[in-house]
Amino acid sequence: CGITGYIGSNQAVPVIIDGLKRLEYRGYDSAGIAVIQEERLWLLKKEGRLERLEGILNGSHPTSGLGIGHTRWATHGVPSDDNAHPHTDCQGRIAVVHNGIIENFASLRRWLEREGHRFSSETDTEVLAHLVEHHYHGSLEEAVRRALEAVEGSYALAVICADEPDKIVAVRNQSPLVIGVGENEYYLASDIPAILNRTRKVYLLEDREMAVLTRDGVAISNGEGKRVAKDMFTVTWSAEAAEKGGYPHFMIKEIMEQPQALRDTLRGRIQGGRVEFSDVDLDCCLDGVEKVFIVACGTAYHAGVVGKHVIERLACLPVEVDIASEFRYRDVLWGDKSLLIVISQSGETADTLAALREAKKKGIRVLAVTNVVGSSVAREADRVIYTWAGPEIAVASTKAYSTQLLVMYLLGLYLAQKRGTLPEEVIASTVRELRGIADKVEAILEKAGAVEAIAEKYAATASTFFIGRGLDYAVALEGALKLKEISYVHAEAYAAGELKHGTLALIEKGVPVIAIVTQDELQDKMISNIKEVKARGAEVIGIAKEGLAGIEEETDELFVIPGEDSLLTPMLTVVPLQLFAYYMAVKRGCDVDKPRNLAKSVTVE
Ligand code: G6P
Repeated sequence: CGITGYIGSNQAVPVIIDGLKRLEYRGYDSAGIAVIQEERLWLLKKEGRLERLEGILNGSHPTSGLGIGHTRWATHGVPSDDNAHPHTDCQGRIAVVHNGIIENFASLRRWLEREGHRFSSETDTEVLAHLVEHHYHGSLEEAVRRALEAVEGSYALAVICADEPDKIVAVRNQSPLVIGVGENEYYLASDIPAILNRTRKVYLLEDREMAVLTRDGVAISNGEGKRVAKDMFTVTWSAEAAEKGGYPHFMIKEIMEQPQALRDTLRGRIQGGRVEFSDVDLDCCLDGVEKVFIVACGTAYHAGVVGKHVIERLACLPVEVDIASEFRYRDVLWGDKSLLIVISQSGETADTLAALREAKKKGIRVLAVTNVVGSSVAREADRVIYTWAGPEIAVASTKAYSTQLLVMYLLGLYLAQKRGTLPEEVIASTVRELRGIADKVEAILEKAGAVEAIAEKYAATASTFFIGRGLDYAVALEGALKLKEISYVHAEAYAAGELKHGTLALIEKGVPVIAIVTQDELQDKMISNIKEVKARGAEVIGIAKEGLAGIEEETDELFVIPGEDSLLTPMLTVVPLQLFAYYMAVKRGCDVDKPRNLAKSVTVE
């Protein structure tokens, strides 16, 4: 979601709308504005794009110089007028806009309802408005501080109150928030691009910092309520670069966002060393399941290939994985104890949706894994597990894929817990490793320069091969797809042991072969396969796990990922492959975010 706010001598509504327009890349399923005019709260919020809100306003709005706005990317509750932000308290005097997830909202809501608060939406955010109301005794900042003591989760929020018509209170915790400083006017926004046309002077809030914006200035305090003196940051990016967080393309921005996306997707799903999906009751989907089908397209299908390995290994359940457009036309031997899992970033892919409908018609239970709340897939499946990757703009999927993988692991572990297929200590140690995965991804991203140097060396290549065994082969499929999609270099993923049954004929002098080696028990076999291609003149780029012996001597280039349980390495190895594709495309002058002939969401069959 994106949030904005304004206080100053100009009219707030046009400034807020303009800011929201620049934040629509953060979400656009509903929008809303609240301003304070003559000590009353005025509010307008609508499902749909901002244009719709603008159309309804038709240029007429209060002239107030203080307000907040929101453009939504639905998490809790489908896109609708009621679920759109701002949310208000019972008396309609306090308004809140929020970006993030309040994890304990359900228990807070039950408690507030017992205290007599009436709710009008399904969102997690609404509890904030009521909590602030509960604690309000004349000081908005004090009420917000008290309210947040009870809150677990991530938030960037802005709060206004009709009783204090010259004040906006803003706080952040694990969601971005910046304060812009103009000439006797102040702005707040989720991201710099929203305000860049108005000011280049900003304060970047840190976690748990609170900013109180009044007409006289901005007062910033830390989590303990102590005033802090912050340095002002002068933005030097162009407006276009700012939208991409200072990166040249959305794809690299999204690659870099993966640690955050993984943390968001994991949040609230691990409790006491076990996997718990507290946000969704999965049991009606999973009870008694004897066979799993996974169906998806493109990158999501590749996540499904990893999912097959993971669920089979952890939960001892047979899994078939299919490309949606194939699945629909084959004779599927459903049993009544089958489960269909569909994976779709957008939740709108026509073939995936058709497979889902087919299964439902046959009375098969369907579980969806998607990134878009309220999407068709989410609405039609029996249950949904959301990936919390946030909006993905680049056509080539990156952060959606890694969060889909994470969900596959969580689901595999959850099924293992249910079915008693793993000893408790194995579950606990795998969960521990999963908790550390985002940090390891971060460490890999810090070495992006090393991948860029490899891409530089091979940028002019015409054809490449990606090889691996087991889970490494599953990631090879995704690595090859990424390279093809955006750099237009021919890339073929091959199961390393299968090369000698044909493709080896295509390996000639100078052909780059990207070899992924992370599976402990398959390491020796992989080294033999590397030797086979080297003997035919291939240039081998190894992506190997730290500590595996004998790889360095066999490779021309080597990128080492941190040590990890072999089961979980796909979440790490995919990162250098994404970076490789990205830098190859950049060096070849391709349109990285909008590759030719492809679309982000394919709604035709
Ligand atoms: C399109 C996109 C791919 C994506 C596939 C499936 O082809 O270009 O990046 O993987 O659709 O999309 P979905 O939204 O269902 O995950």
